[in-house]
Amino acid sequence: MEATAGTPDGVSRRRFLRRVGAVGGATALYGTMEALGLLASPANAEQDTFEPLREGDLNGAAPKVAILGAGTAGLTVAYELGKAGYDCHVLEARSKPGGRAMTIRRGDRLTDTDGVTQVCQFDQGQYYNAGPSRIPSHHLTIDYCRELGVAIEPMVNANAQGFYYHENTTTTDYGPLASTRVTHRQAKADVYGYICELLAQAVDQGALDELLNAQDAERLVELASSLGGLSGGRYVGNNRRGYSEPRGAGDQPGVVAGPPPSMSAVLQSQLGTRFAFEFGFDQAMMMWQPVGGMDRISAALADAVGGRRRITYEAPVTAITNTGDGVRVSYRSNGRARTLDADYCVVTIPPMVLRNLSSNFSQATKDALAVPVGANSGRMGIQFKRRFWEEDFDIYGGVTHTNLDVSGIYYPSYGYFQRTGVLVGYYSGAYTNIPVPDRATRAVEQGVKIHGEVYREEYDNSFSVAWPKEPYSLGAWVSWPGGRGAAYQHLLQPDGNVYFAGDHLSYYTAWQNGAFLSARKVVTDLHTRATTTAP
Ligand code: FAD
Ligand code: PHE
Repeated sequence: MEATAGTPDGVSRRRFLRRVGAVGGATALYGTMEALGLLASPANAEQDTFEPLREGDLNGAAPKVAILGAGTAGLTVAYELGKAGYDCHVLEARSKPGGRAMTIRRGDRLTDTDGVTQVCQFDQGQYYNAGPSRIPSHHLTIDYCRELGVAIEPMVNANAQGFYYHENTTTTDYGPLASTRVTHRQAKADVYGYICELLAQAVDQGALDELLNAQDAERLVELASSLGGLSGGRYVGNNRRGYSEPRGAGDQPGVVAGPPPSMSAVLQSQLGTRFAFEFGFDQAMMMWQPVGGMDRISAALADAVGGRRRITYEAPVTAITNTGDGVRVSYRSNGRARTLDADYCVVTIPPMVLRNLSSNFSQATKDALAVPVGANSGRMGIQFKRRFWEEDFDIYGGVTHTNLDVSGIYYPSYGYFQRTGVLVGYYSGAYTNIPVPDRATRAVEQGVKIHGEVYREEYDNSFSVAWPKEPYSLGAWVSWPGGRGAAYQHLLQPDGNVYFAGDHLSYYTAWQNGAFLSARKVVTDLHTRATTTAP
């Protein structure tokens, strides 16, 4: 625990990261790696210097481009190349656009690689985002929403009323607060309170004299006092924790919830290790979502590129062949084998799927495609008969973070006050290998630990997506073992007339922003080649 609170002094980096992962799960691990500079942070990521193409750039020529995949990257390539008059044809295996930007609504049907089919039974108007759910203000995703006229609304990514919940494990005892739901507001008041008390005392006892001059020492005490809500240098609780008796009119001043748990209990709970999530450059509020579901962006992109005139759905690609002066793509449609010939091809099929297709790519390309590893993650949407989280817990959007295998419960940031609602009951890889009917039983059991029996009583129906079992994804996103090395660099270059794009070829893996950036890079590369050399 002491190691996770600071820098990994005295602990090897790998062991330190293992400990962080054990406490906070994948999101904590990702955030910590970013903070330690082990992942490229956006500050040192490649800059987007994209110049949109214009009509006339091609001087009358209209090179034909086969784009494989109608996810964010593929549609963006078609949209941007289309602006200059490229003759774009998109082949998509699924029956609609979006790829991983998938919103699940009533009637949606998915068959996983085990052959298990689910049909969504949510009420009309209810939905959940099985893939991307949040967009930070600084991502290109917002700019495309503006350009395409996709309405956005706040996505509540942090809520003082949400809970933290740590259950003891075989290796960790979380102390008196184990198996107790603690609101974000209470955890923050207590963690900041005690840390600030320690700081103020350290100054008082001269422990920081070698580091601070007298004036800075005074300033630090002042800061600690306000940040921690201290009284006379001590943390004794305060109204940031909430009230055990509410304030009212007249002579009802209310009673502040307290006293706070001891400093030792708060440290042992490790709840403070959760706060880093909200500090993340890509997770901090404000956070946004398209009104009506994340797939509204790809729907708008698909319209903008010309709809079914340009996109063929239910057209799984089976082979890609460089022909010397162009590319031949083989695919299936309406039960028949077909081919599409083009001058160039842009492949946005995830590498875990692409490497199983037939191609005459160079051995180096095939070796590079074998490197990325598909991440194990999935999400379940649970419809409840009543929005008990709003009515009973005053939770309107936001997240409960837990070390239970559900990892997080995400309350919907839309449809407030409606009768029914769909929340995300888990965001985790722990359910991927649980049979579909048993997933809900387990997720509800976990939810009951936090919310009580109401979670079972109000359960209505559910739908779950396990990304490694989605046949056209085979993973939620990719990781590059050992970092973005030679394989990553190789795939940034075309193989013959075939270009590769997708969030996996950006420093924004697991973000639509990465798919937009990668698409724009390939559009620039392809256009530069098309306008300077004959195809
Ligand atoms: P994809 O969307 O995977 O597109 C590839 C396309 O290729 C798909 O449409 C697929 O059907 C198609 N295809 C596959 N095989 C074939 C074939 N043989 N023939 C033809 N077509 C084929 N991003 C955010 O911005 N915010 C978030 O909060 C966020 N959270 C996420 C949470 C989860 C659980 C997941 C899974 C992803 C999340 N992301 C998030 C990341 C985001 O989904 C991706 O970055 C983005 O959707 C990737 O777009 P893409 O076009 O690169 O890939
Ligand atoms: N972008 C995804 C999300 O926000 C995956 C991710 C999680 C990426 C945590 C980084 C950190 O859920």
